[in-house]
Amino acid sequence: MSSIQMLFVNGFAKEPINGAYAELFAGLSPEITSLNNGGWSIDHLEGYYRIWSIKEATRWSSHGICTSLDDTRSWMAALLVENNPDAEVYAIFLKPDELATDDQDKNLIGVIGTHKTDPIPELSYIFHPSAWGKGYATEALKEYSGNYFTLKSKFDQLTAWVDTENLPSIKVLRKCGFVEEKTEKGDYVIPWMEPQKRDSILFVMKNE
Ligand SMILES: CC(C)(COP(=O)(O)OP(=O)(O)OC[C@H]1O[C@@H](n2cnc3c(N)ncnc32)[C@H](O)[C@@H]1OP(=O)(O)O)[C@@H](O)C(=O)NCCC(=O)NCCS
Repeated sequence: MSSIQMLFVNGFAKEPINGAYAELFAGLSPEITSLNNGGWSIDHLEGYYRIWSIKEATRWSSHGICTSLDDTRSWMAALLVENNPDAEVYAIFLKPDELATDDQDKNLIGVIGTHKTDPIPELSYIFHPSAWGKGYATEALKEYSGNYFTLKSKFDQLTAWVDTENLPSIKVLRKCGFVEEKTEKGDYVIPWMEPQKRDSILFVMKNE
């Protein structure tokens, strides 16, 4: 059974909240295509660019905004399973009614997944600012982390590094049961932040 099918089984009974849902649950509907099946692929390039071209959304990443589709293509390479066989990455779409448009790229409101897994799976997520503050990231991360160790049984922990001042992300991780393990001082640089040398917290979820 594929990851998507497993998540479909796990998530079938779950009602979407706040007019959106993680397509983690979209599963096997005939309306599901490669663009909206939740499985991350190069088909999501334009929707990803729509998010990564916004300064506000990307300011916590030392990469900063993507300035073109080509830049975005390189940046998203690590999320693609063909480059990173252990990657487990999902697109999050608006529910296909209510707020959604006919343009699937615009319905893509977020991405969640492991951009690296060696030696330990490391998670990242980003949502379009128009979707912030509605509980979508918390909903997505709860489902993601709740299924991760079933999908990736060879790993026993899921980690996330977060800037000590990125309060929304810290809240999301805590709400989903991630635990603070350590803080690294000045371990990376973001040129547009003050101070430029940043401190970050390692959050961990263990498969216990
Ligand atoms: C972090 C991010 C994914 C959160 O997405 P979201 O859908 O808004 O998250 P949720 O709505 O599920 O939860 C956000 C929480 O932060 C709170 N919050 C929002 N802004 C805040 C602020 N400035 N200070 C403190 N808390 C804040 C919200 O109130 C909410 O907490 P609550 O449920 O206790 O009220 C989103 O802000 C984002 O994409 N940021 C840019 C990328 C990023 O930082 N990724 C993570 C890198 S580690």
